[in-house]
Amino acid sequence: MITNARIASTGSYLPERVMTNSELETLVDTTDDWIMARTGIRERRIAAPDQSSLDLAEQAALAAMKQGGFTADDIDLIVLATCTPEKVFPSTACLLQERLGIHGCAAFDVQAACAGFIYAFGTANSFIRSGMAKRALVIGSETMSRVIDWTDRSTCVIFADGAGAVILEATEEPGVLSTHLHADGAYKDLLEVPGWVSDDYDQGYETAPYMKMKGNEVFKVAVRELGRSVEEALAANDMERDQVDWLIPHQANIRIINAVAKRLQLPEERVVKTIERHGNTSAASVPLALDEACRDGRIQRGQVILLEAFGGGFAWGSALAVY
Ligand code: UT7
Repeated sequence: MITNARIASTGSYLPERVMTNSELETLVDTTDDWIMARTGIRERRIAAPDQSSLDLAEQAALAAMKQGGFTADDIDLIVLATCTPEKVFPSTACLLQERLGIHGCAAFDVQAACAGFIYAFGTANSFIRSGMAKRALVIGSETMSRVIDWTDRSTCVIFADGAGAVILEATEEPGVLSTHLHADGAYKDLLEVPGWVSDDYDQGYETAPYMKMKGNEVFKVAVRELGRSVEEALAANDMERDQVDWLIPHQANIRIINAVAKRLQLPEERVVKTIERHGNTSAASVPLALDEACRDGRIQRGQVILLEAFGGGFAWGSALAVY
């Protein structure tokens, strides 16, 4: 018998504070119309000053554990995706492990920027398929607001905060069908947060630890590689486009989401879109969208779901699964 990993439960958490496009109009030279037309974002959530990626992750994890009826003893692996960790180390996964009262199991962070959740999901899937874990807590949690330069209109209107979690468990039924992870560091300069660990703190930062993005160039590679990646997932499973029930894309830009959906010839009603209300929450965006659509009953057990994400590195990937 082959062991698969199935999505047993999901959870998510959004900070309370809503930041609208009108508020951004008071910070930078932008308009609600531009932001809506070019990104599809109307509002986003921003963490409170005392809330960290760990706090957001904890709430999402507890929601997923509650939904699945799991206790701390049921979890034997934690993989947490973030590019805005609580500290340099220990990993946010270890800090979360302590918060949740889980002891002894493997816990580590995955850093693949906006593609982090797909990487974490692929990693946990491999652990389960190889028999190294039975029930994994997989999380994407970000406080992107901490690395936003609030004077840079090309990034501050896009990125946001939130967390999403999935519990994957071993099963002999169908579950995750395949995951496909890619990266190309040749694109490192197009989307980055320069500086930090190696900078001399006493002298102040040589390079401000804020995100920089050449948005238009990122856009073009994202559309191309995400298109390839979803087709790769279908080909690996000998599946046709019309066998996909739901696309759950990274919520980076509504125009990127629509371009990938068009390539799959998927009607709009089979694409989960949260970008209008969530903005781009980096590694949290896919599990946030997945949780929303599972909880409101759109995604039903037995349906085929296709996840994809693209981000800094560049790192990108896709995952195909039976929910
Ligand atoms: O999640 C990780 C991966 N990230 C992504 O996938 C993001 C990919 N990139 C994007 O989503 C888009 O490139 C952006 C939304 C960032 C920008 O949209 P765009 O259509 O690519 O705009 P652009 O960068 O080509 O800029 C067009 C114009 C420029 O003005 P000029 O030079 O034509 O006069 C910009 O200065 O829009 C201007 N602009 C803005 N105007 C009003 C850029 N940002 C803004 C803004 N408000 N916030």
